[in-house]
Parts: sequence; structure tokens; C-alpha cells
Amino acid sequence: MFPERRLRRLRKRTLQPLFRETRLGLSDLVMPLFFDETIEEAVPIGSMPGQYRYPVGDAGAVAERLEQAGLSAVLVFGIPRKKDAAATAAYDGDGVVQKSVAGIKETCPDLVVITDVCACEYTDHGHCGIVGETCGGGPDLLNDPSLVLMQKIAVSHARAGADIVAPSCMLDGMVQAIRTALDGSGFAEVPIMSYSTKFASAYYGPFRDAADSGFSFGDRTTYQMDPANAREALLESEEDAAEGADMLMVKPAGLYLDILASIQDIGLPVAAYQVSGEYSQLKAASALGWLDEKKCALEALICIKRAGADLIITYYAEDVARWLREEQ
Ligand code: PBG
Ligand code: ZN
Repeated sequence: MFPERRLRRLRKRTLQPLFRETRLGLSDLVMPLFFDETIEEAVPIGSMPGQYRYPVGDAGAVAERLEQAGLSAVLVFGIPRKKDAAATAAYDGDGVVQKSVAGIKETCPDLVVITDVCACEYTDHGHCGIVGETCGGGPDLLNDPSLVLMQKIAVSHARAGADIVAPSCMLDGMVQAIRTALDGSGFAEVPIMSYSTKFASAYYGPFRDAADSGFSFGDRTTYQMDPANAREALLESEEDAAEGADMLMVKPAGLYLDILASIQDIGLPVAAYQVSGEYSQLKAASALGWLDEKKCALEALICIKRAGADLIITYYAEDVARWLREEQ
């Protein structure tokens, strides 16, 4: 007997689009943006071709460009003028993120502005919060003292007009601490998108160059997760859901699709962050003529969506907007 099922029947060119299970749309995408308080003109980021650090004064114009391209959300990072051990510039009402968010909102009130709530761009040691001696373990990120810092940063972002705050420090209790602080400051309506399952990934390398957030000692493996652990990955996201997160996240995206699929059952919306290294490796290989950039980028993104991402944070967002326009 010849096989009864001929799966190729539905793969005819004209039929195929009717049976496509997953589609990538502009409303799936979030564009990360870097604002730098120390510059007057946009500076290209060497390790991330096509990406820039923008001066704070450009915030409105950049937002307008992205909105006109069809994008509906951005994720804002800041590079401050001054770094110190307590990351004081991170919650300054006049700080780089606060001013940039205000600039975006003034020009594009409907563009969804998400802010990265972390301290690594603002500490002189480059770690994601307050560092101190641990019992017998040498200097390390101190959990509970850092929570107070995250509360201040999140509230200051909300006050500046952020639509969503996104804590990325991987501290225990960070979602509950931030929820309490937001609620107590009149921001009960501001959602928290938690970087709930964030791995200690070497693929963040180009970002540390972009955001000037490399660390002066140690690494982030005592707070970010071991890439080998799938059960713990689920626990991390479940914990943040229980603490009141409105959205979860898996980061990086492309190498962690099993994790992304496994946290669907929690029931909250899930974002996936296609990180700097995922972007830069495609850029580098396509610059050498070894990969077709557009095809590879769209394939990576559709696979992330297929695995369960409701939102994809990607440096390719603006390119995808152009590619989708070209196809119409
Ligand atoms: C800050 C933060 C990082 C990224 C997003 N937020 C760096 C890190 O955790 O070391 C990485 C983003 C990327 O690589 O594109 N905590
Ligand atoms: Zn950080």
C-alpha cells in the first residue's frame, strides 16, 4: 500500500500559505533602544552593526521613526554620565532613562514604552545591584539590599511615564518588591514584565559593549541561571508569576526554545528576548556572505514565535518592519 497520507499535497505553493500555523506580525515585536547621556550625536555600536546609542535629545525623533515603521513597542536602556556603588543615577528623576521615556512619550504617546529595571549600567562595579561581602563567599550581589534599589528604579520609571517596567536583575523576590513599591506609589496599573527566566549567557557579550555594563570582577552566575537547568527555569518563572508578574520572559530566546515552550502552562503571556549575541552572529555571518541575513533572521523569529512567544524583543524589529512592508 502506498502511504495514505501524502503530506506534500498541502505544500503546493498556492496552498501552503493557507495552512501556515504561525505568523510574524509587527505587533509581536519590541525594539530595544540605548540612550546615552554623554553624547550629542548617535554613535554606532561596533559589536552590533545597525544599532546605535542615541543622545537623550533624539528620543522623540527615534520613537517617531519606529512608530512610522509600524512598530508599537520599545524597550529602553540608559547609559548614565555617572556610575557609583549604589547606582544612584538609576533612580534619578532627571536620569537618562527617565528623560528619554518622557521624550518618547511627549512625541509618541501611544508607543508602548517598556523600561529595563536593573543597575548594571549604573554601578561602578558593573553588577546588577548592591555588592558586598557574603559569608565566606567573597564579594557578591546582595539580594535584599538590592531589592530596595529596584523598587526605587521601577517607581522612578513609572513616574517618568513608562507603560511597563521590566526587572532584569534575577534577584529573589524582585517582582513582589517592585509590585509593592509601585502599588504604594500610585502605580497599581503599571504592569511588570519580569525577566523571569534569564540565563547567565555569553550571548550578552555585545550588549555589554552597547550598554557599557560589563562587570569588574566575577560574573553573573550567582544570580542569572545555569543554561543546563530546565526544571529550575520553570521554577523561576512560576515564582515570578506567584509574586504578581503580569508577563514572563525567557532570555536568550533562540537557544532556549524548550524553556519557552515549557513555561506556556503557567498561563501568563510570555516574551522572549533575542539577545545581542543572537543578532550579532547573524550580522557577522551575513556580512561575510555566509548566511542570508533576511531569511535567517525571519526564520529565527518565526521559530521563537512557534515555540510560544507572545512578544519578541529583537534588535531586528526595525528591519522586520521594512521586510514585511517590502513583501506587501
Ligand atoms: C541588564 C540586561 C542585560 C541584557 C538585558 N538587560 C545584560 C546582562 O544581564 O548582562 C542583555 C541583552 C542583550 O544581550 O541583548 N541586566
Ligand atoms: Zn543588570
